[in-house]
Amino acid sequence: MDIQEKIKAIEEQIENALNEIKSSKSLFELRMRFLGKTGEISALMKNMRDLPPEQRPSLGKVLNSLRQWTEEKFDRLEKGIKELELKKKYADEKIDVTIPGHRYPDGAYHPNTLIRNELVSIFAGMGFEIFEGPEIENDYYNFTALNTPKDHPARDMQDTFYLAEDLLLRTQTSAGQIRVMENKKPPIKILSPGKVYRSDDDATHSPMFSQMEGLVVDKGITLCDLKGMLDEFARKIFGESVKTRLRPSYFPFTEPSVEVDVSCFECGGKGCRLCKGTGWIEVLGAGMVNRRVLEGCGIDPDEYTGFAFGMGIERIAMLKYGINNMKLLFEGDTRFLRQFKG
Ligand code: PHE
Repeated sequence: MDIQEKIKAIEEQIENALNEIKSSKSLFELRMRFLGKTGEISALMKNMRDLPPEQRPSLGKVLNSLRQWTEEKFDRLEKGIKELELKKKYADEKIDVTIPGHRYPDGAYHPNTLIRNELVSIFAGMGFEIFEGPEIENDYYNFTALNTPKDHPARDMQDTFYLAEDLLLRTQTSAGQIRVMENKKPPIKILSPGKVYRSDDDATHSPMFSQMEGLVVDKGITLCDLKGMLDEFARKIFGESVKTRLRPSYFPFTEPSVEVDVSCFECGGKGCRLCKGTGWIEVLGAGMVNRRVLEGCGIDPDEYTGFAFGMGIERIAMLKYGINNMKLLFEGDTRFLRQFKG
C-alpha cells in the first residue's frame, strides 16, 4: 500500500471511529491511538527515516497536515462532548433548595435530669465535689457502717432487695458517705447523686428512684451550718421567699436527726392542697453525722464533726413541677416528657 493510500485509510478510520464516540474518556483513548507517542500517525512519521532524504520533505508535509487535520477533528469533537457532559452533570446534581427539610422532634431533658443538674450546680457553687458510689453494695456500707447493725430495728425502715447473703441493691446513697470517709481525711464536702432501690411501689414510691446525698465533715461544723446551707438550697430551688424548718426525726447514722420542711411555695404558707393545709412541705432527711459513724471510718469525733443530708430527686421534681404520680417519671412517655424544657 503506498503512503497516500495509507493516509486515506487512516482518515477514513478516524472519521468512522469519531462517529461512534460518546464520552470524553473514549475520545481520549482514540486520540492516544492515533496521536499518542506510539500512535499510528507517530509511527508513520518514524518510518520517514527509512526513506531517501529527497523524499522526506514532501512526505513530512503530508504527514504534518494529516496530524493537524486529526487534531482539529478531535479538538472540535472534544469541545462538544465536554459541553454536553457538563450540562448533564449540572442537571444530575441540581438541588432544589426550596424543598422543605425533614423536621426532627426536639428532645427534652427528663425532669429528674433537670433537678439533678440544678442541684449539682447549686451545691457545686458552695464548693461540693461529686462522688458516685456503686449501686450494688454490701451490707457493711449500706447498713452496718451507718450504725445499723443486723437486727437493728431501723433496718425495717427500708425494704431491701438482697442479691446474696451479703450483697444488696443499695437502699440509700448514704452508703457512699462511708466510702468517702474511709478514703479521705477531712475537710470533706461531697455531693453524691445516684439510683437507690427499695421494695416499695405506689403513686409516690417506686422500687427504683434517685437520691442526692450531701456530706460535710470538718472542724467545728454545727447544725447551724446545715440550716444555713439548707436555706440557701431551698431558696435556689423553690424560690427566694421559701423558708426551711427542722423537725426532730430519727436516722441511725445521724444524731441529732432532722426532717427538713420548706414553707409551701404554692400558697406561701397559708395552706393549700399541695401542703395539705399545713403550710409546710417535707423535702429531705438530715442530721449531724453520728460519732459512731465517724469513729468507724477512722475520723476522731472529738476533733471533727459533720452533717449529712439526703433527698429524693423524684420527690423534688414532683413538688416543683406539680407531678401527681411518680410512675410518669419512669414510663418514658414522650408526650409527658416533652413538656419539660431546661
Ligand atoms: N438516707 C436517708 C434516707 O434514705 C436520708 C438521710 C441522708 C438522712 C443523710 C440523714 C442524712 O431516708
